[in-house]
Amino acid sequence: MHGVNLDQLGRRDPVHYGTLSFDELELRISNFSHELGLEVRFFQSNHEGEFVEHLHRLQGLADGVVLNPGAWTHYSYAIRDALELAALPAVEVHLSDVKGREEWRALSVIGDLCLERVAGKGPEGYRDALERLRAELAR
Ligand code: DQA
Repeated sequence: MHGVNLDQLGRRDPVHYGTLSFDELELRISNFSHELGLEVRFFQSNHEGEFVEHLHRLQGLADGVVLNPGAWTHYSYAIRDALELAALPAVEVHLSDVKGREEWRALSVIGDLCLERVAGKGPEGYRDALERLRAELAR
């Protein structure tokens, strides 16, 4: 699940986010999931309520979730509560090194609900996240 402004990849600061477009990123993630034998579905929204409602629908739709909520990561208790409701294994991903940037980006309000936080690895971070999720689902 991709959150706010992630659909604008390709237009965002390449220093932090690289040069891949959003569609190219999803293609990469699709390839990672095929390599790992996982089936992946995507969701992106710039609307917090839509993101929350998709989390409400996740049970029964997915075995786990990899999410990059973008800036919502740092302050959205609504998304945190909805992720808790989803009650699925979750991995948090960020393309950029959120800990090495502005102080406010270091905080994640969903971190303790996630198995792991992968940050600063660019698109490859999604492979790590899927691997972590697969390991959890195999337990
Ligand atoms: C991001 C990091 C966030 O701080 C930022 O607001 C984003 C993208 C990342 O992938 O590095 O929109 O989640």
